[in-house]
Amino acid sequence: MNKKFSINGLATLIGLQVLIFSCSQPTDERIPKTGLITDNAMVVSARGEASRIGVEILQKGGNAFDAMMATEMALAVTFPFAGNLGGGGFAVYRMADGQIGSIDYREKAPMAAHRDMYLDESGEVIPGLSTQGALASGVPGTIAGIFTAQAKFGKLSPAEILQPVIDLARNGFVVSTQQESRLRGILEVVRQVNGEDTFYGIERKAGDTIKNLALAETLERIAQNGKEEFYKGETAQVLVDHIQEMGGIITLEDLAAYEAVWREPVVFDYKELRVISMAPPSSGGVTIGQILKMVEPFDLKKMGHNSAEYIQVLTEAMRRAYADRNYYLGDPDFVAIPVDKLLEVEYLKSRMESYDPDLATKSEAIAEGSVLFAESMETTHYSIMDAEGNALAVTTTLNGAYGSKVYLDELGFFMNNEMDDFSSKAGVPNMFGLIGADANSIAPGKRMLSSMTPTLVERGGKLWMILGTPGGSTIITAVAQTILNAYEFDMTMQEAVEAPRFHHQWLPDQILFEENTLDSAIYRSLTSKNYLINEGRTPIIGSVDAIMVLSNGKLEGGADPRRENEAAGY
Ligand code: GLY
Repeated sequence: MNKKFSINGLATLIGLQVLIFSCSQPTDERIPKTGLITDNAMVVSARGEASRIGVEILQKGGNAFDAMMATEMALAVTFPFAGNLGGGGFAVYRMADGQIGSIDYREKAPMAAHRDMYLDESGEVIPGLSTQGALASGVPGTIAGIFTAQAKFGKLSPAEILQPVIDLARNGFVVSTQQESRLRGILEVVRQVNGEDTFYGIERKAGDTIKNLALAETLERIAQNGKEEFYKGETAQVLVDHIQEMGGIITLEDLAAYEAVWREPVVFDYKELRVISMAPPSSGGVTIGQILKMVEPFDLKKMGHNSAEYIQVLTEAMRRAYADRNYYLGDPDFVAIPVDKLLEVEYLKSRMESYDPDLATKSEAIAEGSVLFAESMETTHYSIMDAEGNALAVTTTLNGAYGSKVYLDELGFFMNNEMDDFSSKAGVPNMFGLIGADANSIAPGKRMLSSMTPTLVERGGKLWMILGTPGGSTIITAVAQTILNAYEFDMTMQEAVEAPRFHHQWLPDQILFEENTLDSAIYRSLTSKNYLINEGRTPIIGSVDAIMVLSNGKLEGGADPRRENEAAGY
């Protein structure tokens, strides 16, 4: 690898504070950079309109679960890149009284799916079949998720919650600069998949207003008829007809059978923190638990934020955790997962016994394989805190950018390509370079393993932080580093979100750094220990949306400037 820089595009873009990997420590004179501070409530998401609609619902007397429905649907309107009706997600909650839980609305494999559906006659993976087109979609879970959560805990009616979203779809949203480039990037593929006349086949420029009338009508029907509309009503029929016409296998029976599932979150302690995160079929909670518990015995504060020593010990924990992730984790309704064992202190201590501060562990020494992986930022996360003190961390996705690229013009939304999150064939990487084992093989009705990591953190028994991020396989490590930034290095929420990040996922055996953020001394130190460095693959790692409850009870938003995230509140 070549030279390293100390000042760079990303640093310039998001401000110079705490942005460069270097051995220097923040000085006492440092003026902390904070995000939006509010007294009562907050929503942080990938789009300003979605955050503001969530807050509007809170101000109308709704709680976090009402705001979840509004924010999620507003993201489906304004952020079709990842916001969705045709995808799925996970939400982790903590009520004001400390009660915790989570809801799994991950997509499921259709009943006609089978283990080898993406393999050719000689047993090789057919490129593109699990990522593009109608066969790539799992049965969507988003509408079930938001309605199930809101029905249990919300206070307003879905019609009242969805009205501002319907208005937004009808009146339109303004295309942002980043959105223009993303839409341009998929224009040809969307035309190829859906035909020239498809809604997102039209070229859009920053500043244009997009009015999605088909989506407004779909949302109106859903507001009137509830989730049954999506799973059993006219919307279900149109979706199935469209998908089957394009060669997909989702049936009316698949939709009618879909249910979101309440799950016990993964809970573990890290020093004085109690971390509450998503259980399988997301790998998020278990893997972030393994990483943080493996580094807990080390004096990270003394090592210094993003010092070579810190990067090394965290990398070795990431390597070992992802090796376990890929082997053991899958849908708990289909496979037995030793969650307790994987988070046991003695087990994790034994995993770190091979850690050598002078030399990189080789991933082949833990397991075999060699893969390539590609950038991904396509999921989206939002964090909500209401005025009663209820907290929600929600991550939702279509998987790839605009999912399978199948756009249902009659309904106004994209379908997911979540089937690629299954292991199509043991040992063959998916679009994130993650290789899977039997635990994550395809089966009818099974949920594919996810990396989404919606997470809540308590400190001293009180809610302290709500966070999560997009980023495919890098989600887990981005969330772990944000928690460590705030806890070990006393960063404000905004600083913790902005600090440069790195990532290792066992295979490929390389540390990924955000473009041009790596100090040359650290680069030399790591390469001298045989670490492979990759700075070129992706300009950013994750795009964290977070909220911190400050010691005075106020809320601080952390809206990641790597993307167009925004905090709103009152
Ligand atoms: N589709 C990305 C994930 O669930 O991890």
